[in-house]
Amino acid sequence: MVGGNFVGVVLLVEIIVVMMSGCRFGANGLSMDYYFRSCPIVDPIIKTTVSRALQVDPTLAAGLVRMHFHDCFVEGCDGSVLIDSTKDNTAEKDSPANLSLRGYEVIDAVKEQLERMCPGVVSCADIVAMAARDAVSMAGGPIYEIPKGRMDGRRSRIEDTFNLPGFTLNASGLITIFGKHGFTVEELVALSGAHTLGVASCAAFKSRLTDVDQNMDADFAKTLSKTCSSGDNAKQPFDATMNRFDNLYFNTLQRKAGVLTSDQTLFADSRTAGTVNRFAFSQAMFFASFQGAMIKMGALDVKDSSNGEVRKNCHKIN
Ligand code: HEM
Ligand SMILES: *[C@@H]1O[C@H](CO)[C@@H](O)[C@H](O)[C@H]1NC(C)=O
Ligand SMILES: *[C@@H]1O[C@H](CO)[C@@H](O)[C@H](O)[C@H]1NC(C)=O
Repeated sequence: MVGGNFVGVVLLVEIIVVMMSGCRFGANGLSMDYYFRSCPIVDPIIKTTVSRALQVDPTLAAGLVRMHFHDCFVEGCDGSVLIDSTKDNTAEKDSPANLSLRGYEVIDAVKEQLERMCPGVVSCADIVAMAARDAVSMAGGPIYEIPKGRMDGRRSRIEDTFNLPGFTLNASGLITIFGKHGFTVEELVALSGAHTLGVASCAAFKSRLTDVDQNMDADFAKTLSKTCSSGDNAKQPFDATMNRFDNLYFNTLQRKAGVLTSDQTLFADSRTAGTVNRFAFSQAMFFASFQGAMIKMGALDVKDSSNGEVRKNCHKIN
């Protein structure tokens, strides 16, 4: 009798444990502890690799964050941004919209180690998402956990990159395109705050100099002209602390020193200006909103085993 009761209790406990772990899976199939059993080393490997890469080149934090954005906005967060073109297919990578995506070698270095430690387990899409998460916190931004379990997609086509927002969009255009992906106006502003990191090429803002933009500070216009005197490829930092994830980007917009039309419009338009002011005033509010929006972005149209795979090599479909 006692033995029977014991088995019963053990079964009951197991059922509760299974139910609870079931609850940790979101509706999209992602979960916080996805690799808990299959590849527990995943977090330390990504953290060390990203940290070493940033020690050598701190500007790579920007590259990694932008890569996750470009992955998620085109065909969902499915590693499609990493696929190389073949003779029959021109991939997303080769779109002009990729304009200087950076950090592919960091993803490759992580993948190479993971394939040795837990072969065939960790998707390239998850590596991109986790590398972006670590890049944000290592650059001084919020520390947050993200759900995992994205599968890698089997499609990467240049024509899909039309889903990426153009840098000449005004607030209306940005609200529409982010709205199509399910983001609120506040989330649009928070995600744009990723431009606290990194640089833009002259090619992306030179039209604002000829076709004089009323939303631009006159001294800042001179700065941009000077940058562009070195050509289309010359880089302009989005704010004065380009390797530091802080809220200075929003103060920069208040001074009318935003680099892209799509940046400055957020302060010029009454629908977004309030949020810009709030984030300029409080870094904590920006961080809270940013991490929520990144988790949401990281769940865009994720693939599961029915329409995805774990790629062996992030550059090609298995
Ligand atoms: C709101 C619409 C957005 C537009 C129009 C836009 C456009 C651009 C453009 C044109 C550049 C410069 C590329 C170059 O000239 O090399 C850039 C850089 C960057 N973008 Fe965005 N972006 C947007 C939103 C985002 C979002 C949501 C993220 C991430 C969450 C992001 C992260 C970055 C980062 C980190 C850089 C710097 C990259 C580097 O230094 O290599 N952007 N973006
Ligand atoms: C981005 O696209 C251009 C063509 O528009 C291509 O020359 C370049 O190699 C691409 N960049 C990467 C990193 O794939
Ligand atoms: C935003 O841009 C669109 C398309 O270029 C234009 O039709 C619209 O009038 C602009 N809206 C504002 C408020 O400037």
